[in-house]
Amino acid sequence: MQSSPATSERVRGHFEEQAGAFDALYNEDRLVQRTLRPGLRLRRDLALEAVRSYTDPSVLDVGCGSGRIAEAVLDAGAGAGAYVGVDFSAPMLDLARSRLDRFGDRVTLVEGDFLDTPLGGPFDVVLALGLFDYIPEPHLFARRMYELCAGEVVASFPKWSWLKGPVRKIRYEVVNDCPIFNYTERELRLMFGATGFSRVDVIAATRSGYLVRAFR
Ligand SMILES: C[S@@+](CC[C@H](N)C(=O)[O-])C[C@H]1O[C@@H](n2cnc3c(N)ncnc32)[C@H](O)[C@@H]1O
Repeated sequence: MQSSPATSERVRGHFEEQAGAFDALYNEDRLVQRTLRPGLRLRRDLALEAVRSYTDPSVLDVGCGSGRIAEAVLDAGAGAGAYVGVDFSAPMLDLARSRLDRFGDRVTLVEGDFLDTPLGGPFDVVLALGLFDYIPEPHLFARRMYELCAGEVVASFPKWSWLKGPVRKIRYEVVNDCPIFNYTERELRLMFGATGFSRVDVIAATRSGYLVRAFR
């Protein structure tokens, strides 16, 4: 089982070229980011809430990127069981490695495509934040997350917005040759429900995105 190869190569290429720029974009210390992108804080807070609801949680972070969410959840106690981050962009993982170095052997970083990379588990919490934006076959990802999950999945999804959507489409797909995808609440309920999760909470977090908490 593999991501659609042509699409995933374009996404990987994007995150190899733009690793540093992306990391800066996710810098919550900057007022402008906190103001323009409130969704980043909301998704991080939901990840923290989920992680804190387990004792000694094990966490799988799918598309962990430069490790910004990882750092917050590790500070909150994730990885007392194990923290595993997987990403197919080597430059993103290099950034994550330096950011997470201080957590020592609580952290394992794995380079590869989520769909066909062995990851161990199952994990109490599976995080997929800022990932589904770039996934042409989301049901395959939801299914593998279900297989690797003992507790719950916390994931973010973009929804179409006439305010941000057109510019975002052009910036990613035309300028950077990186395909992006949007979701509706109905699609999310159907996808996670059909995958087997017993409870699916869909939160309309901002005008341009949903957060999902799906319980095994
Ligand atoms: C926008 S970043 C999000 C990073 C992090 N989760 C966060 O919220 O800060 C998305 C990441 O997903 C990774 N990614 C996309 N598709 C992937 C796949 N099929 N397998 C592994 N990683 C993938 C990209 O390389 C990128 O680093």
